[in-house]
Amino acid sequence: MAVTYELIKTCKQTGARLGRVHTPHGVIETPAFMPVGTQATVKTMSPEELKQMDAHIILSNTYHLWLRPGHELIAKAGGLHRFMNWDRPILTDSGGFQVFSLSNMRKIREEGVDFRSHLNGDKLFLSPEKAMEIQNALGSDIMMAFDECPPYPAEYDYIKQSLERTTRWAERCLKAHARPGDQGLFAIVQGGMHADLRRQSAADLTSLDFPGYAIGGLSVGEPKHLMYEVLEETVPLLPSNKPRYLMGVGSPDALLDGAIRGIDMFDCVLPTRIARNGTTMTSQGRVNIRNAKYTEDFGPLDPECSCYTCRNYSRAYLRHLIKADETFGIRLTTYHNLHFLLEMMRGVRQAIQDDRLLDFRNEFFTMYGLHDN
Ligand code: GUN
Ligand code: ZN
Repeated sequence: MAVTYELIKTCKQTGARLGRVHTPHGVIETPAFMPVGTQATVKTMSPEELKQMDAHIILSNTYHLWLRPGHELIAKAGGLHRFMNWDRPILTDSGGFQVFSLSNMRKIREEGVDFRSHLNGDKLFLSPEKAMEIQNALGSDIMMAFDECPPYPAEYDYIKQSLERTTRWAERCLKAHARPGDQGLFAIVQGGMHADLRRQSAADLTSLDFPGYAIGGLSVGEPKHLMYEVLEETVPLLPSNKPRYLMGVGSPDALLDGAIRGIDMFDCVLPTRIARNGTTMTSQGRVNIRNAKYTEDFGPLDPECSCYTCRNYSRAYLRHLIKADETFGIRLTTYHNLHFLLEMMRGVRQAIQDDRLLDFRNEFFTMYGLHDN
């Protein structure tokens, strides 16, 4: 088996899981946050920097790498790990989600999806078989099944048809997967915000034997409480000896409240995206470093943080760099935000070890200025 899950312990206060995902490129300690490197780079960060902040795994995208530079070229380079000089685990999303969020004029049929490239308008076709071919060529440790993430809101009947097709696509992915010995293929549970459809999707997908299961179709604009209701419905139906991955979710509150509901893996562009406009996550909550009040603030971005940015640079300097559109400013805020979330996840894992994740969560909410609602 290319990818296996080892449960270390369950938090007595919450039911959250402390575990390890074993992959051909090493171990991922869970609950884990995965920085996003869509185009075979976590924007502005070198692999050495990602290792310094102790990222265990990064995520990349089938859709983008297929369009540019092409999966065949990456295979020629020796696979995605060699191409980008990252020797730790990589997870690739299947392109299902990106086709729906980025491309124009898409048409979904049983066979796959016709669409036009967001880069040059070329007519393209992505299918379960093609998504497997591309991910097999990239050589990611964890591949995602080709799925449809329906918009929110959508009609019940549409969501039902869509999840049933996603299950048929997942079966086709299993059949087409050429490297089950060294790449783990995860299925994606869909079903919108409907408990019965989520149950149907989870039951059908878990009857097929995937090494891991993701929950997709969330954080698509629904109110937060609906996402947690779906997690509470869905997670208990997933096998406890496999990792559970909540796709596209990575705000600090959702990482905590997702882990409490039994999620092991998360990814999100949030920390890297907001860093590029000067928004940072600190022990005092969000700080936009562009704010005039930091003009003469010569203290660190986050006095509680031990990252490279906070050990060496002032808020005034960061503000100057970001306002002057200097790349180095973006590198420094990106480094800090990723370090902050990875450090928070180390705290989550320690709190599970100590059976106090609910206390940790409440302390974090208070410190960060978050509220329950
Ligand atoms: N990223 C965030 N949500 C989803 C989803 O539902 N499917 C896929 N493939 N990727 C996602
Ligand atoms: Zn910092």
